Amino acid sequence: MTPSEVKATLSFSDDSPSVELPIYKGSIGPDVIDIRKLYGQTGKFTYDPGFLSTASCNSTITYIDGDKGELLYRGYPIEQLAVQCDFLEVCHLLLYGDLPDGAQRETFVQTITHHTMVHEQMQFFMRGFRRDAHPMAVITGLVGALAAFYHDSTDVHDARHREIAAHRLIAKMPTLVAMAYKYGLGQPYIYPRNDLTYSANFMRMMFATPCEDYRINDVLVRAIDRIFILHADHEQNASTSTVRLCGSSGTNPFAAIAAGVACLWGPAHGGANEAALNMLGDIQKMGGVEKIGEFIKQVKAKDSKIKLMGFGHRVYKNYDPRAKLMRETCHEVLSELGLHDDPLFKLAMALEKIALEDDYFVARKLYPNVDYYSGIVQRALGIPPSLFTAIFALARTVGWIAQLDEMIADPEYKIGRPRQLYAGAPRRDVVPIGKR
Ligand code: SDX
Repeated sequence: MTPSEVKATLSFSDDSPSVELPIYKGSIGPDVIDIRKLYGQTGKFTYDPGFLSTASCNSTITYIDGDKGELLYRGYPIEQLAVQCDFLEVCHLLLYGDLPDGAQRETFVQTITHHTMVHEQMQFFMRGFRRDAHPMAVITGLVGALAAFYHDSTDVHDARHREIAAHRLIAKMPTLVAMAYKYGLGQPYIYPRNDLTYSANFMRMMFATPCEDYRINDVLVRAIDRIFILHADHEQNASTSTVRLCGSSGTNPFAAIAAGVACLWGPAHGGANEAALNMLGDIQKMGGVEKIGEFIKQVKAKDSKIKLMGFGHRVYKNYDPRAKLMRETCHEVLSELGLHDDPLFKLAMALEKIALEDDYFVARKLYPNVDYYSGIVQRALGIPPSLFTAIFALARTVGWIAQLDEMIADPEYKIGRPRQLYAGAPRRDVVPIGKR
């Protein structure tokens, strides 16, 4: 980061001395005001619940321009990566800073491929869950449990350990997610196969059975691979910030990623794709397209707390570029499967059109986000709604681990420890119970 010639001066309306704060410039995007010395100089904290105006770190991985609706992974536009690359190339990009050449790609693919099996004992963890456990409960547990099996890659301060843990997590997430799915069905697990691509392997582990193998459909495999690319990283979102804060204590990478999985589960974050599909299903039950107006009225009613799931974003105040790509993928998959008349897809497009012309949404700059269409695509691929967020976690694992690695590799990093505005009781003495 480059010091700006411009400084920020903080002055106070009483006679407190003003404070000069340095400003730094990134390569693109907003400058930052460095407030690290503010408390020492003024005895005051800044106050920013939800971190609407706070840059928590200096990163080189992902850039988002919310007004333009732009998303870059290491400088490459998501629109180009989603069309010209596959997920493992994007993993290499996020982890190592650039797209691999042919030889690097081959080495990386072989490395990941040969880490896709999980320890046989992981199956015993599975048996502890109810068959109807939500897959995110299972995945949160299994990812944390990985730390119990890989003591040779848990020293987060050892760069080689971090790299091995990254390879293991990227490779094993598809296996674990497919295991969670099969466990819920009561079907036997399907082992990974080294002769398949990453995404074909995942689809086979999900849909093959010992009685019948899975016929690879390149359009569907390409669709899930693109879903992985679109979800791979997204700057300092809630779950990535969770991974950074958790990892800043020096805990092992598996524990930090498990914390990210837990955070992503929430309906305001990664759980929105499941919630968006359920919302479309509810509108369908209400009567479909004719009932969109009634539903939107409920959303606008302040006390209803009903949100248009899959719409709105803390950063994007324009169309989420991932939503456009997801809508195209939706179209491709539904056409391939002869479902172009899928009522939910038609309903989703009608709802999107109406919302984008409605002042309530226009005034609040609410546009479809990545979660709006992803549920429809995944449902068409045969993936149950309860597994959508686990798929999101599978894809985001590479972003989480790249961000964790960047933080730990920064010699300046410290354990994250925010402060607070205290509004509770001032000091008081305990009264013995007989006198309370
Ligand atoms: C993801 O951060 C990331 O990068 C996340 C993510 C990633 O890749 O990691 O992009 C993935 O989490 C995408 C977002 C998925 N969530 C949803 O689709 C859930 C529905 N969306 C909302 O919950 C909401 O839009 C958030 C949580 C996404 C953003 O909320 P903010 O930035 O805190 O904005 P806000 O809640 O203050 O909303 C501003 C106004 C409010 O109205 P007023 O109080 O000003 O009258 O817009 C309204 C909100 O009520 N609003 C919505 C709405 N989203 C915001 N009203 C109806 N439907 C919505 N979806």
